[in-house]
Amino acid sequence: MQTNLRNLDMISTQSWTKEQIETVLDVAFDLKRKRALGQPHAYLRDKTLAMLFFFTSTRTRSSFEAGMAQLGGHAAFIDHHTTQISHGDTAREIGEILGRYYDGIAIRQCDWKVGNRYIRDVAAASRVPVLNMQCDIYHPFQALADLMTIIEKKGNPRGKTIAVSWAYAASYQKPISVPQSLILLLTRFGMNVRLVHPPEYRLMPDIVQQAQDNARRQGGSLEILDDMDAGFRGADVVYPKSWGCLLTTEDLEESARIGKQYEDWIADERRMVLAAPDAGYMHCLPADRNIEVADAVIDGPQSVVYDEAENRLHVQKAVMSLVM
Ligand code: CP
Repeated sequence: MQTNLRNLDMISTQSWTKEQIETVLDVAFDLKRKRALGQPHAYLRDKTLAMLFFFTSTRTRSSFEAGMAQLGGHAAFIDHHTTQISHGDTAREIGEILGRYYDGIAIRQCDWKVGNRYIRDVAAASRVPVLNMQCDIYHPFQALADLMTIIEKKGNPRGKTIAVSWAYAASYQKPISVPQSLILLLTRFGMNVRLVHPPEYRLMPDIVQQAQDNARRQGGSLEILDDMDAGFRGADVVYPKSWGCLLTTEDLEESARIGKQYEDWIADERRMVLAAPDAGYMHCLPADRNIEVADAVIDGPQSVVYDEAENRLHVQKAVMSLVM
């Protein structure tokens, strides 16, 4: 266990050591137990968190806000439209100024080629830790919650196979941050990761390379497939979700045309039968129901999506308690 995490930013799990991440998981399980038992755990009394959103959210906003209250502190919701950010406050000004008011700054900025740069610029100017609530490249708290959920449901993740698969969605070009954070984190814990997608939906080459390096160092594997059935076959966990073909085109009409070719990439009951009999179905949510995933799967006995969403609360409280 590491005890010197105070003031660390959480922008990507990749910049944290494996031992630091194990500490987060250890604290998250303890906080989950404490909440179940009704034991007070006000580790952040009188502390405040700024939550700056450039993009919509249900789970992230609610779990950070509830988490800060449960830790004895306060979280302020700040929408970029209703602040002077819309009239020119720069990332440096936000880091300098909010860093003097608050004890932590959490940011969701998912704009492609903008979000991660913005969060890093705020962090460079901030005297307090900066937490990435999702950017264009990473969604670290989702991946931490997912790892916690895999450990709860499957025990030691080492040697287990997960299919991180693209699935079709009609709603919008979803960020690539979830699959990228998943392949980066799960390869560090010895999992056999299958990254499954049509060719147009590739992830950033340097992220894939880092995941391959993680797998080699930790004794797991990263395999890239272009067949959803093959990805599901025998997997212990399936994580089919949509993301945009951002590395192929940024044109929305062309993206929609490309996606239409793969409408049959849905997590349905036929595909679930291909996975291991006790395979877990995961999704970060929101999902396009009966397009990305069949109701029978997401509402079925193999789905762990509600425990997965709950674990966002516990891992975020763990990181906030350790760094703020
Ligand atoms: N999974 C996730 O980040 O959910 P929200 O977009 O609702 O925050």
